[in-house]
Amino acid sequence: MANATKLEKMKFILVGAGGFGEFWQKLFIPRMKEFAVPVAAVDVSEEALQCPVRNGTLDASKCYTDIETAIAENPCDFLVLVIPPQHRMQYIDVAIKHGLHVVCEKPMADTMENACLIYNKMKKAGLKVSVTVSHRMEQNKQSLNRLLDESRYGKLNYIIGRLTMKRDFSRRGADRTFEEMVKGSIPGGLLHELDTCRGLSRSNAKSVYASMWRFEPGDGSLGSSMFATVEMENGVRCFIEHSHANATELNGWAREFYRAECANGTVVIDKDTLTADCDLGFPNPTHADLPLDTDSELWDHAKIVHDFCAWVQGGPEPETSIRDNMYCCALTFAAVESALSGQTVDVPAFLAKYEKQYQLNLAE
Ligand SMILES: NC(=O)c1ccc[n+]([C@@H]2O[C@H](COP(=O)([O-])OP(=O)(O)OC[C@H]3O[C@@H](n4cnc5c(N)ncnc54)[C@H](O)[C@@H]3O)[C@@H](O)[C@H]2O)c1
Repeated sequence: MANATKLEKMKFILVGAGGFGEFWQKLFIPRMKEFAVPVAAVDVSEEALQCPVRNGTLDASKCYTDIETAIAENPCDFLVLVIPPQHRMQYIDVAIKHGLHVVCEKPMADTMENACLIYNKMKKAGLKVSVTVSHRMEQNKQSLNRLLDESRYGKLNYIIGRLTMKRDFSRRGADRTFEEMVKGSIPGGLLHELDTCRGLSRSNAKSVYASMWRFEPGDGSLGSSMFATVEMENGVRCFIEHSHANATELNGWAREFYRAECANGTVVIDKDTLTADCDLGFPNPTHADLPLDTDSELWDHAKIVHDFCAWVQGGPEPETSIRDNMYCCALTFAAVESALSGQTVDVPAFLAKYEKQYQLNLAE
């Protein structure tokens, strides 16, 4: 379990200082100070480089538009990439040139091809990568995961997941084609629930069917909704609802709903409320309000970076390693293919194509 002890403090450069990089500065970096500290920030935008200064993360003298100068003036152990996925490769090449490990925001890459290239490049260079599939590592989902890992309520049958948010009226993305919308939204959003289902079921996916559409109710707003059904290799079925088109926000980011139907209990995490119910009779209790796990000091991004630092320092390969993430990428990009083709996609066959083409050796 992740506790911020016994690790040597590591230094990193934050690449991407605006956008989600501000969340890093405000919410995540302060929780990492015992084991990982930023020594510089890099961004193509001068305006974005004001964020780390405004947030008290770094002095202006430590904010750069050029990564090479940032590295030359600030020796570090790893890069944290919080930039859009289509810009990853240039920084992967920089990391390799300087022998730096990488923590990468999800999705690891914009395409399955680029995920394979990153995997092979970093492996060949002997460098480590962790990917921040952060929502599955949050306290509420990890608490449910623990109950399932312990088989506390018997064999897991299926999982229902829900992230439903109210639509906004900005009409953001209105000019995107359907293909652009699918290629942006599944790796950008649905990926988290797909990967959470991998975590909860402790299995990779066998097949995926994903459906996505725009919703325009005629009030000037524009939203999009998705459903996905995933059959896992161990037989568990997962049904995911993901919508940004609704009248209400039942479950937003970090406050998702998951219902795990187990042989002896219906176990639900709804935001931060964990419950189990059973109508099978004695000796099963009819209802239990369960505590969230409290035996870790670290969750989500902080836990991912902690476990990454421990890995770099000789500890075990974490759940969010690049190797594990290749299976997340396969499921995610297979879901993209499914949403575009309208067909169910065989995920191991989808991955096998790339394993062969890029000689991946994921089992090594
Ligand atoms: N884990 C999560 O929950 C979560 C949530 C939101 C976003 N993200 C991920 O974070 C990443 C960034 O998303 P965002 O919404 O902040 O993107 P964004 O478009 O807002 O860009 C973030 C920053 O990167 C900078 N940037 C763009 N290209 C660059 C380049 N080539 N070199 C240096 N800087 C560059 C931009 O100027 C900006 O300041 C994405 O991979 C996204 O999926 C993860």
